[in-house]
Amino acid sequence: MNDKLNNITEKKYLQEDNLSEECKKLLSILPKGKAWIGSYIYNYQGCWIPPRLLQGMIACQQQFQAEDSDIILVTTPKSGTTWLKSLLFALVNRVRHPIFEPNHPLLVKNPHVLVPFLEHELYGDGHVPDFSTFTSPRLLATHMPFATLPKSVLDSKTKLIYLCRNPKDTFISMWHFANNLRCHHKDTNSIHEMFDLFCEGLSFSGPFWNHVLDYWKQSIENPNKVFFLMYEEIKEKPKIQLKRLAEFLESPFSTEEENCGVVDEILRMCSFEKLKSLEVNTNGKLSSGEENKVFFRRGEIGDWRNYFTTEMNDKLNHIIEEKFQGTGLKFQYV
Ligand code: A3P
Repeated sequence: MNDKLNNITEKKYLQEDNLSEECKKLLSILPKGKAWIGSYIYNYQGCWIPPRLLQGMIACQQQFQAEDSDIILVTTPKSGTTWLKSLLFALVNRVRHPIFEPNHPLLVKNPHVLVPFLEHELYGDGHVPDFSTFTSPRLLATHMPFATLPKSVLDSKTKLIYLCRNPKDTFISMWHFANNLRCHHKDTNSIHEMFDLFCEGLSFSGPFWNHVLDYWKQSIENPNKVFFLMYEEIKEKPKIQLKRLAEFLESPFSTEEENCGVVDEILRMCSFEKLKSLEVNTNGKLSSGEENKVFFRRGEIGDWRNYFTTEMNDKLNHIIEEKFQGTGLKFQYV
């Protein structure tokens, strides 16, 4: 019985058979490309997306009503979303859930449960989300590119926190993640095939460069609305970045909080080692089928060096230069 249930949830992530007629019709006319896993991904409004998530994204665009107090974490996949979800949750809820409390929600729940994805979790599978259970400010997440965000997000005072990571480590992290999902699927693309797809822009929520650059521009034009962060920046100066984030959210740490060690304790609680070691993240599973442990792989900068050939490095360097030159955006550790 348990095996049967496991199979059902494992397949849900890539499910294509529960799509609405409207979505199937749309898929038949959208440009499609080879997916890393499953059969195809589709290009919708400039973004490459698998069918199940496309359905969730459209429902979100049509139905989501943003509130001024909402905080939405936007990320490129595998950029450290899980980490920033945990930091945000701890930061924003530090009065309701003091960080030193022994049964803090982060100790028993995976960050993806505490800060759900709009298109994946809340609007996925034709769900109508019940926001009545959310406390204010609502903490939400998405991988949607800027141009595809629901109109109410742009019309409201909703704050967007954006996270990306250097494209080389992003690619390697994505490749490992895809391999994990693929255990239950037949196709076995090599790292080189996937790398070529990534370079062509064919990755989930890709092209990667468009995603990053659109939010980068928005963060410059509208710095009170969009806060732009990189994984490497948090890794290097976690305390400074957490304090900047608190200021952006208009809830800076008080001197008393700093003296009591609240900032340090949030960072400790959300550290890779701490989160990875928790029972919920060792043995738990998300309702969409992924095992929680797959979100805590290695958590380091520069793992790409263990996988990239000289050719791969040259090719991606060339693309990085071409896409980002003159934008003011610089990736570290590439
Ligand atoms: P690696 O695959 O390089 O280890 P996402 O959460 O967006 O899916 O990104 C996953 C990446 O973030 C993985 O990178 C994972 O190990 C890393 N990560 C998860 N939690 C982290 C934490 N608390 N601190 C640093 N990195 C973390």
